[in-house]
Amino acid sequence: MTIVGGGMITHDQILPSFFQLQRLGLVEEIEVCARHDQTLQELAASKLLRAAFPGQGFRACAGEYQKTLARMQARNIVVIALPDHLHFEAVMSALEANQHALVVKPLVMRAAEGDRIEQEALRRGLFVGIEYHKRFDDRSLMARRKYRAGEFGEFRLGTACLMEKWYYRRSNFQNWCTAENSDAFTYIGCHYVDLVHFITGLWPVSVSVYGVKDHYPNSKEGFLWTDARVIWSNGACLNVQNSLSFPDEAPGTNTQGLTLYCSGRERGALIRHSDQYRGIEHVYVEKPATPGGTMYAEPSPDYFQYVDLGGVGLTPVGYGYRSIEYLFRCCLKVEKASDRQQAIREIDNEGIAATPANSRYNEQVIEAARRSILNDGRTVATQESVEQPRK
Ligand SMILES: NC(=O)c1ccc[n+]([C@@H]2O[C@H](COP(=O)([O-])OP(=O)(O)OC[C@H]3O[C@@H](n4cnc5c(N)ncnc54)[C@H](O)[C@@H]3O)[C@@H](O)[C@H]2O)c1
Repeated sequence: MTIVGGGMITHDQILPSFFQLQRLGLVEEIEVCARHDQTLQELAASKLLRAAFPGQGFRACAGEYQKTLARMQARNIVVIALPDHLHFEAVMSALEANQHALVVKPLVMRAAEGDRIEQEALRRGLFVGIEYHKRFDDRSLMARRKYRAGEFGEFRLGTACLMEKWYYRRSNFQNWCTAENSDAFTYIGCHYVDLVHFITGLWPVSVSVYGVKDHYPNSKEGFLWTDARVIWSNGACLNVQNSLSFPDEAPGTNTQGLTLYCSGRERGALIRHSDQYRGIEHVYVEKPATPGGTMYAEPSPDYFQYVDLGGVGLTPVGYGYRSIEYLFRCCLKVEKASDRQQAIREIDNEGIAATPANSRYNEQVIEAARRSILNDGRTVATQESVEQPRK
């Protein structure tokens, strides 16, 4: 299998998850493509990855990913971990090379691009999955099951936020997460829009995103603070705030959470998730050398951690790993099915893995959000939602 892009998400989640699948005997060779050799050298030299997976490694392919895709055996797996605005071309290239594709969120920037991916993948009997890992956090799955059983009544008003640390501005983000390509909402707000649908089954119908621009250290401009209002098919309203502003000295790798106020049976109901503070406080004797490391920390045990479960190295645990394993197994399911299109449709209808067919509302929201933010927060309707099966 091949990972395209060797940046932060590849180091933090994707590569270690595939190393674990390799350790379990489910994956053979792993290749990583990046434009620059230095990116690959830094990835290979990661102390954490070496400690967790001693004796394991990847084949480094520097240069254009198209060359690597062209010589891959057909019906293998490609993971796209490139900047947001480059996903469409990369996914289409993977499909044209007859590869199943897993894509970091957001899938693409326009709804029509998502539709083209869906059709091409279905025609070729290939699986495309979008990596919305918050779906695999057990708290999301608990809320989904209980909401759909009617235990919360109906969602009416909600707030969500996800603020990444200030130091992100100094990373490779300044080269691509710029005003003309993306913004804080598109980059991270999409997680919570996806979760509200995942939990409630409602469809977003209009979006307004107000953005505040700041300069990156390289003087490029980005919408680094965003405030979004998303209206849902039942008239409910979700406010989502995002930024690259959480103080580097604050505890935790970011601050984030979701509150949904609901009503039913003449009563109020509530779902509240603190997705940053998960009950752990650590104080270290020395400031960790990792980016954003602090002496007082509130680490999350739930997203992605390495634990010593005996045996060689360390074992990755958490919903970051579970999400990759789930999508990987979807690829296997489709590949092995006698009727691959039917297998794809089954996964679409289950609605647990995000696919181009069952999460096209995300692309509709992102397309509308980009139009809104570039027009001072004007309200933009998403396209007519297509009724899809609910569980
Ligand atoms: N919470 C999440 O789900 C999550 C978290 C982080 C990133 N992501 C997504 O993953 C993707 C990559 O993010 P990342 O954090 O790894 O970013 P990054 O900037 O750390 O890495 C991007 C990679 O793409 C390569 N690249 C190729 N063409 C490029 C170009 N024109 N400009 C800049 N880089 C280019 C870079 O060399 C690098 O290997 C984005 O779509 C992002 O939204 C998702």
